[in-house]
Amino acid sequence: MKILNVNIDHYATIRNARGGKEPDPIAAAMIAELSGAGGIVCHLREDRRHIKDRDLELLREVVQTRLDLEMAATEEMTGIALKIQPELVTIVPEKREELTTEGGLDVVSNLYHLKSLSEKMREQDIEVSLFVDPNKKQIEAALNAGADMVEIHTGEYANAIGEKELEREFKKIKNACEFAAECGLKIAAGHGLNYVNTYKVSRIKEIGELSIGHSIVSRAAFVGLSNAVKEMLEIIYRNY
Ligand code: PXP
Repeated sequence: MKILNVNIDHYATIRNARGGKEPDPIAAAMIAELSGAGGIVCHLREDRRHIKDRDLELLREVVQTRLDLEMAATEEMTGIALKIQPELVTIVPEKREELTTEGGLDVVSNLYHLKSLSEKMREQDIEVSLFVDPNKKQIEAALNAGADMVEIHTGEYANAIGEKELEREFKKIKNACEFAAECGLKIAAGHGLNYVNTYKVSRIKEIGELSIGHSIVSRAAFVGLSNAVKEMLEIIYRNY
């Protein structure tokens, strides 16, 4: 069974827009879990633009499924992860000026740094996933860095326009998943997945987990979070 990991960052984005208490991302995490999410994802960014340290601490207390901390491979975030002890860390590249994560990690160029980070996490039984583009060299490097999992970046597929481009981007993802499975890595996929494009990706048998945030939070504004999570699960499990 594939797992749906729900990213609740944008509840914090809405809360922070007014600087108050609502909506609380902690409540969102609990509703997402009650509605069938297999994990909760949050990204603690260097600038704390959405999730704050307080959110992460409380999420660690209340999440009953699996907490996936998305983070940059910095000393500060490594220290926080080792203290908070999420079940999983997903390492992403981070740029201050970006609206959201813009691409996969360059694992090849940062192999030794990521290897040392993975070792620190492994000592504490924290699994490590590296967010990579659908590229064999990066996946192979993730294996060499000691990652347990790769999360394949689906952003280019999500942004593809027209059948040809869509098919080309989809094939890249499929080939990358097959290669990662041959390497013995666990496989997640995410970024830009929504109620239209998730079905096709979720048919890729090697993918064990999907990480979805923005589209679920957006739909939740109209139908409620519980319905939004359940509708995404219906897509993932359709014809299963
Ligand atoms: N996976 C990773 C590594 C991400 O950085 C993000 C965005 O925070 C997501 C998945 C979720 O992307 P989206 O919000 O577009 O569903």
